[in-house]
Amino acid sequence: MGSLQYGYSLGVINAPQKVIERHYGRSLGVHDVLVPLCGHLLHRGIFSSFLVGFVGNLRGRVKGMLMVNVLAIVAGLLMGLCQMWSPHIMVISGRAVMGFYCGLTSGLVPMYIGEIAPKKYRGALGTLHQLAVVIGILLSQVIGLDFVLGNDAFWPILLGLSGAPAILQSLLLPFCPESPRYLYIMLGKEQEARKSLYRLKGPYDATGDLEEMRREKEEADKEARVSIWSLIRSPVYRDQLCVALMMHISQQLSGINAIFYYSTSIFSQAGVAQPVYATIGVGVINTVFTLVSVALVDRAGRRTLTLVGLGGMCVCAIAMTVGLKFQSDYAWMSYVSMVAIFLFVSFFEIGPGPIPWFIVAELFSQGPRPAAIALAGCCNWTSNFIIGMTFPYIQEALDCYVFILFAALLLCFTIFTYMRVPETKGKTFEEISAAFQKGRKKNATDTELQQLKTSTDA
Ligand code: GLC
Repeated sequence: MGSLQYGYSLGVINAPQKVIERHYGRSLGVHDVLVPLCGHLLHRGIFSSFLVGFVGNLRGRVKGMLMVNVLAIVAGLLMGLCQMWSPHIMVISGRAVMGFYCGLTSGLVPMYIGEIAPKKYRGALGTLHQLAVVIGILLSQVIGLDFVLGNDAFWPILLGLSGAPAILQSLLLPFCPESPRYLYIMLGKEQEARKSLYRLKGPYDATGDLEEMRREKEEADKEARVSIWSLIRSPVYRDQLCVALMMHISQQLSGINAIFYYSTSIFSQAGVAQPVYATIGVGVINTVFTLVSVALVDRAGRRTLTLVGLGGMCVCAIAMTVGLKFQSDYAWMSYVSMVAIFLFVSFFEIGPGPIPWFIVAELFSQGPRPAAIALAGCCNWTSNFIIGMTFPYIQEALDCYVFILFAALLLCFTIFTYMRVPETKGKTFEEISAAFQKGRKKNATDTELQQLKTSTDA
């Protein structure tokens, strides 16, 4: 529900943008209004994503998710009832509060899923976060059509509905068991953790799971609490952090949201006759390929799917450029562009879309996990904001070559993934951390050897 709401909020202003701008214009008494609604949302997301660790640790993951629902409900009411007062102020405030909610939920949900999922299905369950996001986007695209709710009469309801899942979630969350890892490792409540495990998995022998948590707790107890600041400074987590942040940056700088925020105008530029329906086509493909990823991620692995996804997107970005460049010479080039856009989105959803969201919870053990998720989320929201705000200008400056920029970035991200991203499929959190420690020790030894050699030579 939380992720669905996040997706809905991302997608909802795409279709009725013009209708909303007309209303703003009327209430302000001016003709041309440009409303950067995606900016209000993204801007607040940048700030609130920083608070994920704090909210998640305050009273636990479930209560954290429950608390932040207040924000979504308030935001929904502000937007849904916007015509009772100055609509523009109400909508801007509603989007800002919703942005706050989205920044928090986009961290809390993957953190909770990562902690409760059995290792065999951690990838598939983690990908469900993205599945709900893309269903939310699709839903908003469909009910945002002008003959549904994206029209003069109903647009406040369309925006207000973004708060509706929070009501349902508030009723259902109290039935969800708290994360056993939070209970045992953070609070030391072994019995409660055991009960939570039974509720999640049914009656089974929990000794193995509890033993794994006990070892992780021992490690966590040895180190001081990891704040965001100490995580940034600590050399111990540098490699993990670098991988986590790069994966989030590559998700956004791949240019995916250039398609999601501006698809209708991109399709018109590419000469597609019915751009709004092509946009919905993107939403459908997006959902189908996220389902493919759910099925593949625990078999093919995170690293392989990210590599295939980023590499495939790079090729598609080149194909889009060719399509845009030659569309005035050959009419069929608009099909090349359209197919390239569809494939671009498909490759994104195979790996670079869902994986960064849950891999951060896999790369870090319990102690630094909340801080790492907060930092990665902040990176994601910041790069999303940068693309959302600058794409129209980049497009104007580079014209048909705009996607070459993304192709170049995608190539760099593919190389980075190949060199630095480890496989985490089927490993325990302990094994994943140990692999990074080993890499670090090896590097340290190499550096020490080098230093020794230099001093001996001297
Ligand atoms: C991911 C991205 C989000 C994007 C969506 C598209 O969730 O974080 O920014 O809009 O995928 O499916």
